[in-house]
Amino acid sequence: MTTDHLVLVGLMGSGKSSVGRRVAEAIGRSFVDTDQLVEQREGRSIRDIFADVGEFGFRDIESTVLAEVLASPVSSVVATGGGIVVRESNRRLLDPHLVVWLRASVDTLAKRLVSGASRRPLLDGDVRRRLVDLDQERRPLYGAVASIIVDVDDLALPEVVQAVVTSMEMR
Ligand code: S3P
Repeated sequence: MTTDHLVLVGLMGSGKSSVGRRVAEAIGRSFVDTDQLVEQREGRSIRDIFADVGEFGFRDIESTVLAEVLASPVSSVVATGGGIVVRESNRRLLDPHLVVWLRASVDTLAKRLVSGASRRPLLDGDVRRRLVDLDQERRPLYGAVASIIVDVDDLALPEVVQAVVTSMEMR
């Protein structure tokens, strides 16, 4: 039997890590962040991984980490990198779990990513333009994996946390 994890997906800046950490605290589960695990495993930053092995190499490591996290018997809250949904094999892995999409408009994300874009190689150049493209590509993919959607544009962090906890309890 697979353990049921609560997995947060969404574009960069949607709040997966901050929300995930607080949801985990609120429901007494452990918290894991796939980006953090990738960096720990490699002993270097995501930016350095991209520079060395490119996006494809990064996605290989990310997929391995996701598979390990989801195979853990400890039911956890999992924050993922924004591109976790790009690979079909990852989407299949997510299927049995409770997946929450933190959905945000490009405007919200662009504002939040004024600081923080430098850690994210896919936002190099025109941040807003990159977000528009990624949003267009990935919206259908987040929609395909999500069991629950939380629209975060008008919500403060504690309200997002509450919305995730409540929607989880209602299932
Ligand atoms: C990525 C999102 C990043 C990180 C990497 C690629 C993406 O994670 O995994 O820079 O493809 O959207 P966050 O969504 O946590 O910023």
